[in-house]
Amino acid sequence: MCYTIPGQVKKIKDRIATIEYFGEQKTAINELDDLKIGDYIYAQGGFVIKKIPEAEALSILTVWKETFFELQELDLRLSRVGMEKYGVNKKLSFILDKALENMLLKEADLLYLLDLEDKKELALLFKTANFLRQKHLSNSCCVHGIIEFSNYCSQNCQYCGIAASNKEIKRYRMTEEEIYDAAKQAIEKYGFQTLVLQSGEDSTYSAETLCEIVKTIKERWSVLIFISCGEVGLAGLKKLYQAGARGLLMRFETSNQKIYRQIHPGRTLDSRIKHLEEAFRLGYLIITGGLIGLPGQTRRDILNDLLLAKKLHTEMYTFGPFLPHPGTPLAKSPHPEVKDVLKTLAIARLFDPINAKILVTTGFETLHPKAREEGLMAGTNSVMLNVTPHQFSKNYSIYPNRAHNQESIQKQINTTLSILRGMGRAPTDLGVSLDSPLP
Ligand code: 5AD
Repeated sequence: MCYTIPGQVKKIKDRIATIEYFGEQKTAINELDDLKIGDYIYAQGGFVIKKIPEAEALSILTVWKETFFELQELDLRLSRVGMEKYGVNKKLSFILDKALENMLLKEADLLYLLDLEDKKELALLFKTANFLRQKHLSNSCCVHGIIEFSNYCSQNCQYCGIAASNKEIKRYRMTEEEIYDAAKQAIEKYGFQTLVLQSGEDSTYSAETLCEIVKTIKERWSVLIFISCGEVGLAGLKKLYQAGARGLLMRFETSNQKIYRQIHPGRTLDSRIKHLEEAFRLGYLIITGGLIGLPGQTRRDILNDLLLAKKLHTEMYTFGPFLPHPGTPLAKSPHPEVKDVLKTLAIARLFDPINAKILVTTGFETLHPKAREEGLMAGTNSVMLNVTPHQFSKNYSIYPNRAHNQESIQKQINTTLSILRGMGRAPTDLGVSLDSPLP
């Protein structure tokens, strides 16, 4: 199974390659020495990741071509905003019209949207977000794989089930060979082109070991690697970039200093932000966001979270619900409502419409069985599938009853593809933003 459509190189200027996909041109950063005009390639996250033989590319494109335009047509049809707008209050109509006309929404507008409760009004907000997603990013949807290689963690985040203080869970560390086996399966058997390597903050894997793992995977396969191992230090970030990592998945969790301090003993929001800023400066693609529904969090905090994510040059927004874990100090705090999560995702699309990838998180799927279907129709365009072997992933219990926890990779792929197909989306990663600084 392939998660990217091959494109043909039309132009190369310095490190930027122009790639054509069924008549549409996109740009990507090229790090291959021998790339030539006319080559067929796969791009992921704005990077050319590998060349593929022409014959193979053409045969994949022939299969795709049949469905590609059909899917686009279906997506377009489903994303139209029509009569629903009549009868809606003037203020909402005015704000949504501004968004549809690519005008920048003011903070007051965004707060107004965050306060919406009425079902019909919310439905219109979600439709508008979906329209903007379609207009700017067409029907592509990122499907990345994630390997959770250790659930040891030295930190005590008050909401997290794998926090050091939780003695109730079985801890595991995957060996380097086990990580390579999982990567091999995800890449060779299932066709993933981007892998996220995630763990708790586990110093057993030194920066050198992590670099070795990234380097080995990059040597063996042409994939895009994102790291998600907490605060690895600014020097660690640099080394990991040199080793070949190109994305950093790290939420700032909340932009509210007071809440941040309360739930992250011994840690500061400033340090987290410094990591994210440094990572961007080094050339990493940034995936960040926060938890929705933390105790004491207000709508204004959520708006500040969205603003901070944008300020940090987020390539992919990851906002998911706080889910109380019984083995944590926040066990008794309530989770947010489904509509509050959907609202945040839709508003993220409205205020960063053009390039943003917005993730439907597994946390949201755990809160709501229809999270993917509804999230993808409310402005989002990314999902992550868990490719960690089951004997490990069952213990990666950051929150209870994680969705898809014991589902085979094949089953996850089948359901994802069937959901995407039903709404005219293609599991590709063609969206390329040139906002990132060149490494
Ligand atoms: N509920 C929801 N998300 C959680 N995470 C950790 N614990 C929880 C929880 N109880 C998320 C954090 C972290 C990511 C890896 O998992 O936001 O960034």
